[in-house]
Parts: sequence; structure tokens; C-alpha cells
Amino acid sequence: MKIFNDFSLKHYNTFGLNYNCAAFIEVEFAEEIYSINKMFELSETEHLIIGQGSNILFTKDFDGIVIHPTFNNFSMKSQDNNFLYLEVEAGKNWDELVRYSVGKNLGGIENLVSIPGLAGAAPIQNIGAYGQEIKDVIEFVHFFDFNDNIFKVFHNRQCRFDYRNSIFKQELKNKIFITSIEIKLKKNPTPVIDYGNVKDELFKSGIKNPSVNDVCNIIANIRENKLPSPKEIGNAGSFFKNPIVSNSKFEELKKSYPDIPFFEVGENQIKIPAAWLIEKSGFKGKVKGNVGTYHKQPLVIVNFGNASGNEILDFANEIKTKIFVEFGIELESEVNIL
Ligand code: EPU
Repeated sequence: MKIFNDFSLKHYNTFGLNYNCAAFIEVEFAEEIYSINKMFELSETEHLIIGQGSNILFTKDFDGIVIHPTFNNFSMKSQDNNFLYLEVEAGKNWDELVRYSVGKNLGGIENLVSIPGLAGAAPIQNIGAYGQEIKDVIEFVHFFDFNDNIFKVFHNRQCRFDYRNSIFKQELKNKIFITSIEIKLKKNPTPVIDYGNVKDELFKSGIKNPSVNDVCNIIANIRENKLPSPKEIGNAGSFFKNPIVSNSKFEELKKSYPDIPFFEVGENQIKIPAAWLIEKSGFKGKVKGNVGTYHKQPLVIVNFGNASGNEILDFANEIKTKIFVEFGIELESEVNIL
């Protein structure tokens, strides 16, 4: 392990904000977390686990310990006729894992290409895009429990996955450190192409029976065209979750906005794209000082260079207020605010 004091987090948050933490610990082997917990009693000490910081907004220095996993091996655990089972360590770059699995023509995570972050963070908010979610491939999540001071394993069902949610964001928040995930990938994949314009883009490229590689490439292109790369412009992807409302609330909105887009969630609820609400309320491409919504996808709030965390937060709150006033819907941030 490596320990640094009074460390800048500028390169550990995709908004590119220059806040410091009191101490930064690079964990080079999963087992080290046991002695780190002995040393710092993490259940009692303010701490934060950061992969690439692609879902976090700092508004001030962090007066605690930041723990960053760098161990990133992965190996095949087993296979049967249909699936190959991989165990992937927390520090593995998510996109590299997707590209590896696509390269082997394995299916299940190809639509999750180009999502920034590390494999260990992926189950926490159940990352999802273009019709796939990590919950559909997760078998087990291995983690260390700071309170009980032991390594534990949860089966998929115990993780209580939901839309951008899991037990790791709720009851177990700040109590555990994910060390690896086990995923199952399909040997005979059936591409998922029904979301948004994936089918159209495949058609335009003249692809009739797409392979996982084709779908992965098309989605990588769609994302590249629509979402800003955090390497070029600071952002944390979708800033808000897509709100879920009751059928009756939806019917009421539909009277005023007959063109409102929606996705059904179960029988009684409707998910409304926050991007649409933001666009309708006049915030698409709006810039205020160093902050703005991205002109091609207003759900993404960007830092044009020198914004402070509070400037970004104030701008996000302005959007929230406007949408509450206009639609009676309370947006919830997807990004963790600190
Ligand atoms: N829309 C607009 N105006 C816009 C853009 C979108 O009205 O400028 C409306 C359209 O009706 C469109 C709908 O919003 O059909 C959905 O847009 P999009 O397909 O771009 O997806 P999203 O709901 O905005 C979600 C995820 C993204 C993920 C995409 C693709 C959330 C919070 N976000 O965005 O995830 O990549 O779907 O599956 O669920 C992330 O979590 O950081 C992220 C980028």
C-alpha cells in the first residue's frame, strides 16, 4: 500500500476539481484492506472509496481518508455450456473489461461500453446503459466489512439491485470496501438493440445480424457523439436520475404535455427522462459562468474549466428548483455530493 498525506484529488474526480483529502491510500492488494482497517478503524473514521471518481462532486476539501484500489487482475472461475464466469478485481478499468469480453465474443456487458469508472464501483449504483444493467450479469460481490473486520460475499439477490441503486448505496454505505465482482458472460450472446437509436444506427451502417462487437462499436460511437469525454471536459455523466412517478401523476402531466416521453416501470410507475424535463425548462445548453448543461445531452452538467464544486452544485439546484416549480417533480441527483 502507499499512503500520501494532504493529497490533491484533482485527478481522482472527473469534474477535475482541485480539492484535497487528509490522506490518500492506494490499496495494491485486496488483503491489505484488513490491516488498513486495523490501523485506521474505518468504521469510526471518515473515509471515502474512490475508483476514478466518475460519479462524485466535491464541494470542499475532504477531511478524511480516501481509499483507492489499484489491484486489477481478473480470471476465469469456471464455465458451462452457456456461460463463462469471471472474477474481476475492484481496480480493473470497466471499459477495458467490456472490450476484453467483446473481444472474446462474450455477451452481457457490451452495451455498457465507454462508461468511466472501475469494476468495483459498478455494482454500487448498478450501472446501466442502452438496455443492459450490471445486475443482470453479477453473480457475486466480494467485499470487506469494516465493522465486522472480515471479508464477505453477497449473492446477486442480497445486493438488492434496483435502478441506479443497491444495498451498497443504502444500508452498507461507508461500511464496506468492494474487492471483486463475479460476473457471468454469455457464450452465445443475443445482442440487445432495442434501446433508443441503436437499431437505427446499426441499420444505417448496413449491419443486419449484429455481433456483440458491432453493438459495442455502435454504442461507443453514439456515446462519443452525445456525451462529453471527462478527459476533455469535466463532468460526471448523468447528474440526475430519471425520475419515477405514479401513473396518476403521469396522466396529469400528459394533459399539459402530450408529447412527454416515458418508459413504463412495472405496472404502476412511469420513468420520465430527466433530459426532457431539463430541455423543456429551458436549460439545454445553458451556460452560467464556468458551469453549464452539455448542449447535446442536458442531463450532463459540465465544468468548463475553473468551476468550484459549489458553483456546480448551485447550478444543479437551480435546475432542480425550476423543474419542481414547472412539473412538480423532485429530481434526485445520481452523482454523490460531498
Ligand atoms: N431527451 C431529451 N433531450 C435531450 C436528450 C434526451 O428530451 O437533449 C429525452 C429523449 O426523450 C430521450 C430520453 O431523454 O429519448 C432519453 O435520453 P437518453 O437515451 O440520452 O438517455 P438518458 O435517460 O438521458 C440514461 C442514463 C445514461 C445512459 C443512457 C443510455 C440515467 C440517469 N442515465 O440517460 O447513463 O447512458 O440512458 O442508456 O439513467 C449515467 O448514468 O451517467 C449515464 C450517462
